[in-house]
Parts: sequence; structure tokens; C-alpha cells
Amino acid sequence: MQRKLRKLIIAAIVILLMLPTGISAEENTEPEHALDVHSLSERYEGSFDIGAAVEPAQLDGVQGEILKRHYNSIVAENVMKPINIQPEEGKFDFEEADKIVEFAEENNMDLRFHTLVWHSQVPEWFFLDEKGNPMVEATDPNQQRKNKKLLLTRLKKHIKKIVKRYGDKVDSWDVVNEVIDPNASNDRGLRESQWYQITGTDYIKVAFETVRKYADEDAKLYINDYNTEVEPKRTYLYNLVKDLLAQGVPIEGVGHQSHIQIGWPSIDDMETSFNMFAELGLDNQITELDVSLYGWPPRPAYETYEDIPQEEFERQAERYDALFELYERLGDKISSVTFWGIADNHTWLNDRAKDYNDGVGVDAPFVFDTDYNVKPAYWEIID
Ligand code: GLA
Repeated sequence: MQRKLRKLIIAAIVILLMLPTGISAEENTEPEHALDVHSLSERYEGSFDIGAAVEPAQLDGVQGEILKRHYNSIVAENVMKPINIQPEEGKFDFEEADKIVEFAEENNMDLRFHTLVWHSQVPEWFFLDEKGNPMVEATDPNQQRKNKKLLLTRLKKHIKKIVKRYGDKVDSWDVVNEVIDPNASNDRGLRESQWYQITGTDYIKVAFETVRKYADEDAKLYINDYNTEVEPKRTYLYNLVKDLLAQGVPIEGVGHQSHIQIGWPSIDDMETSFNMFAELGLDNQITELDVSLYGWPPRPAYETYEDIPQEEFERQAERYDALFELYERLGDKISSVTFWGIADNHTWLNDRAKDYNDGVGVDAPFVFDTDYNVKPAYWEIID
């Protein structure tokens, strides 16, 4: 009987001792919210800024708080693009863009402007002659000359208006976006956009010169593109930049969009690219970082998940670890790392994932998840 009692008492003590351990084990697996963890921008202070692309609606509430805590630089996801700012000739709309500019000022954040010139999200009126005909269809050399002049005048007006408004507020200007196309039929890999067909490369020169004329002298001017790590695009971009610099065009940095994937491109290719441009005396910025879980090109090469397995987040974390190790090692050649979003609940990659898998699937490219909790990738880049 006594032995039985002793056993019971011992069992009770053991249970009591285990209880707190059980509770704390549970606590350890609770997800940690982005607002409860150490700031990313503080972690990388002295190396580079940490930025996020946003829509004005994301500046309030929890997203606004996360922006203030983790990011010290900001860029508009859409509202500063040509079609948003000057949808009709002479009718400028700065309402939405102003909200982002004000948020940056109030919170002492750097501001990137994206983008003054692009072949996409640009209103068609830019490329119509005085009679409303598409400039690219002109065959008469006189008309072609007139078109070129008109288009460059419109370009200068667009840029002047914006840069005069935001000149003392913007730190980095994406002056031109995506002017290289390795599949173009010319041998320099120049994108054969309407800009190019009508003006050759003069639109690039005029754009940079006009921004330089009106921008704050500390503001830096960037040429921005994707797949800047990948040959032959990297070399096409390098050759163009070198050529423009030789002509005195005021390019100060290369924006590497960095819409990348877990397994592509290689860290070595990125390093080579940053070093190539740094050797030309230019700054590098990572301007649109997201790390997709999926391959490219799409189907049948991949299928997208509806429920992402945990091991994918672990693989993504290793990728983020390698990326930020590289960025930090090259910190004197990279002044800013901007994510193309804040958290996994808002990313253009979800549309892409769905587009290529019959409307099914999600992507998850960032270090904060859809509920603003930190992911394994966060822990890799914060330590
Ligand atoms: C490009 C552009 C961005 C954005 C992304 C996709 O990278 O530079 O402005 O449109 O595509 O959303």
C-alpha cells in the first residue's frame, strides 16, 4: 500500500514537472508576428537600405506599422508609372503618388521613383502623331523626323513635371525600365519598343539628361531591368551602359529587379553582374526582389501548390540566406535591397501562379507570410 502511494506521489510530481515544459514547447511553436521581431532595416544598417514596393492602401494599419518597423525605403508598386501619372496628355494625376511620397517623408524613409519610362503601363497617346496616327506606322522620313521630335518633347515634359514636383524628395530614380530584350532582332539586344522604333536610343539619353537637369544633385539615376544576371542579357545591358557613359549620359546605377526563383539564377552569376557594373563606377540596387517557389517557364515544367509544403519554405530560407550573404559581402557595391511587396498576401506572383495552373495555386516569395508572421527565411537573414 505504502509502495503504491509512493508510486502515485512520484507520478504526480513527474506530471507536475512536465506540465510547464509542455506549455513552453507549445509557446515555442507559436508563429512570431513581424511586429514582434527585430527590424530588418536595422539589421542591415551600414550595408544597404531595405525597401518595399507598396500600393497607397497598404500604408495604413498593420501593413503601415510593418513598413515603419522593417523598411527604411519605399517605392510605388504602380502609382508612379506613366499611365497612372499622365493618363491623358497634359492631365497629370499625382493624388495616389503623393500619398507614398508623404508617407516616406513622415517616416524618414528613402524614396525610389518607379518609373519614368517604360514600354508597358504607358498610355498610347504618347505614340500617336498630331493627327492621331500611330507614329510607328509612318514611312515618310519627314514624318518620322517630326514624330521623333514630338515624342521626345512629350517625354521631356512628362519627366520635367514629375521631377520638379518630387525632385527634393526622391533619392533614386528608375529613369528607364526594361530597355534590353535579348530576343530583339537588332544585334545590340535593344528592346524594339515604340520608344526605340521612333527615337532609336535617344529616348534613353534624353530621359537621363532631363532627370539630371531637374533632380536634386544627391539623387541617383538608375537603369532598371530584370534578368540582369543572365547572359546574354547581362552583356547587352553592360555594353549599352558603357556606351552611354562614354557619351556622357548621366547614369549612376543599375537597378536589378531580381524577380528570381529558389533555384535560379546562380549566386555566382549575380556576383559577376554586380561586380561588372561596379567596375564601371556604378552603384547597384536590388529593386524588385521576390523569390518565387516555382520554375519558369511554366507548365508543363511545374505545377503550383494550393497548400505549400513546409519543406519549400525551408528551401526558400536557404536561398534567402545565400542571397543576403552575397548582398552583405558586396555591401559597398549595393546601396539598397527592395522587396516587391511586404508579405505573401500581396504579390503579383500569385496571379502568375494561377495563370499557369488553371487558376490554382499560390506563390509565397517574401520573408513574412500571409498573416504577417515571420517565415524561416526571415530567421536566416536576420542573424
Ligand atoms: C516589372 C516592373 C514592375 C512590376 C513587375 C511585375 O518588374 O518593373 O513595375 O510591374 O514587373 O508586377
